Amino acid sequence: LSRALTRAESLIAETPDYPEPGVLFRDISPVLVDAAALGAVTEAMIAPFAGTFDVVAGIEARGFLLAGTIVATAGVGTLPIRKAGKLPNPAASIEYHLEYGSAAIEAPGVLPSGARVLLVDDILATGGTLGASRKLIAELGGEVVGASVVLALDELGGERVAGPVHSPFHA
Ligand code: PRP
Ligand code: HPA
Repeated sequence: LSRALTRAESLIAETPDYPEPGVLFRDISPVLVDAAALGAVTEAMIAPFAGTFDVVAGIEARGFLLAGTIVATAGVGTLPIRKAGKLPNPAASIEYHLEYGSAAIEAPGVLPSGARVLLVDDILATGGTLGASRKLIAELGGEVVGASVVLALDELGGERVAGPVHSPFHA
């Protein structure tokens, strides 16, 4: 497993100056397309949380893909956390800060009361998205048991906003 994980880390693509000058953009697409790498990353993301969650909540858009692999591996259900404006009847909506301006996430009202939820996304940057997701699950009556991403950008200090976030890879 660890050899597959090491290879998976080497597959993460880096593009300088995207989406704006000075930003090094990380893309996990090369990991997603590789069965062995995707399998190793999926296992590593959920290992600390085995047996502790009933639902994995994936954050639009790349978090959906990871939630899908975790559903198949862990035998749990999934809750899609959507960007604002995509759902006819959102049960909750949480606004959060971006570098410039703000955004909001929403979810449908389908979560069973007290459901134990693992949050997943591709990358932890400033932590705004995962921090808002924690509040969203609480508002829906769920219990967040943890958060997991593929790659945490540690220098941005995202855990100060998002709370504790597990990840196999750090940059
Ligand atoms: C990216 C990424 C995370 C978020 C991390 O999504 O997939 O969801 O940013 O940033 P943060 O920790 O500073 O909140 P993006 O907003 O680019 O949306 P997308 O997946 O729809 O492209
Ligand atoms: N990649 C993907 N999403 C992101 C990044 C990144 O490098 N930084 C902030 N959100």
